[in-house]
Amino acid sequence: MKYDVMLCKILRKEQMTADIFDVTVEAGALAQAAQPGQFAHLYVPGKTLRRPISICEIDRAQNTLRFVFQIRGEGTAQLAALNAGDTLDLLAPLGTGFSLGDTSRKAVFVGGGIGVPPLLEAAKAFGTNATVLAGFRSQDAVILKEDFERNGNQVQIATDDGSFGHCGLVTDLLAKLDFDVIFACGPTPMLKAVCKIAQQRGTPCQISLEERMACGVGACLGCAVKLRRETGEEYYGHVCKDGPVFDFQRVVWEG
Ligand SMILES: Cc1cc2nc3c(=O)[nH]c(=O)nc-3n(C[C@H](O)[C@H](O)[C@H](O)COP(=O)(O)OP(=O)(O)OC[C@H]3O[C@@H](n4cnc5c(N)ncnc54)[C@H](O)[C@@H]3O)c2cc1C
Ligand code: FES
Repeated sequence: MKYDVMLCKILRKEQMTADIFDVTVEAGALAQAAQPGQFAHLYVPGKTLRRPISICEIDRAQNTLRFVFQIRGEGTAQLAALNAGDTLDLLAPLGTGFSLGDTSRKAVFVGGGIGVPPLLEAAKAFGTNATVLAGFRSQDAVILKEDFERNGNQVQIATDDGSFGHCGLVTDLLAKLDFDVIFACGPTPMLKAVCKIAQQRGTPCQISLEERMACGVGACLGCAVKLRRETGEEYYGHVCKDGPVFDFQRVVWEG
């Protein structure tokens, strides 16, 4: 299956923090087709453009998809006002997700803020072989710690203000670890620091990028990103179709 549009019933909705919401929907064939690191485009009534939200968790036995999102503007505020029993219009599964490879490798998952949810399903596949390093502003912004622990993952938290776990950057924790492969999602400065460590150590690393999107399916050039071929030639690709997950060596950082 490629992608499809489906009206999905919201089965569960919870508020995780002051502005972060956790929504599980009945998604039938979309749940069967979804892969870790892919995203869905969510329709918001009255808005022309759908809103891209990563798939946080896939339950193929129950046919459900889980999304964790933060209120950033009008669209996400409208989505946050929906409740169990309401319907969510999804275009999914979209994009190229994480390529997990050999899950007996020692994997480290590095997430910052709302970049943490897209890592949950991929980390599940690595179980006790995964260490999750998650960075947040402060203790009241910490999310999904118990969910990763349920996967069997080792979890280390960093907070900017030191109110929980390590005081400082999540990449301080990464610098102290041994690992075979890195998967990361979060703000650009964090991703750049992760890529630097991967480059220095010669470690495979996949990063999930966030870019403003329109169509979400590679048809509009709304989400251009500069990429590098193996030959070194640079070109523009689409975050929505070629990504959002990329091998770190393919991404050309601009600015
Ligand atoms: C692949 C991908 C996965 C994402 N996954 C998540 C997730 O799991 N959880 C989460 O909380 N957020 C996620 N985001 C960010 C989320 O899409 C934006 O916060 C959301 O679109 C903002 O919409 P709004 O109407 O509330 O804000 P507004 O600022 O009112 O939006 C105006 C327009 O800008 C677009 N836009 C604004 N900010 C972003 C952004 N950061 N990225 C892309 N488009 C944006 C909106 O889609 C809309 O078209 C993801 C973004 C991408 C590209
Ligand atoms: S959002 Fe249209 S090409 Fe990516």
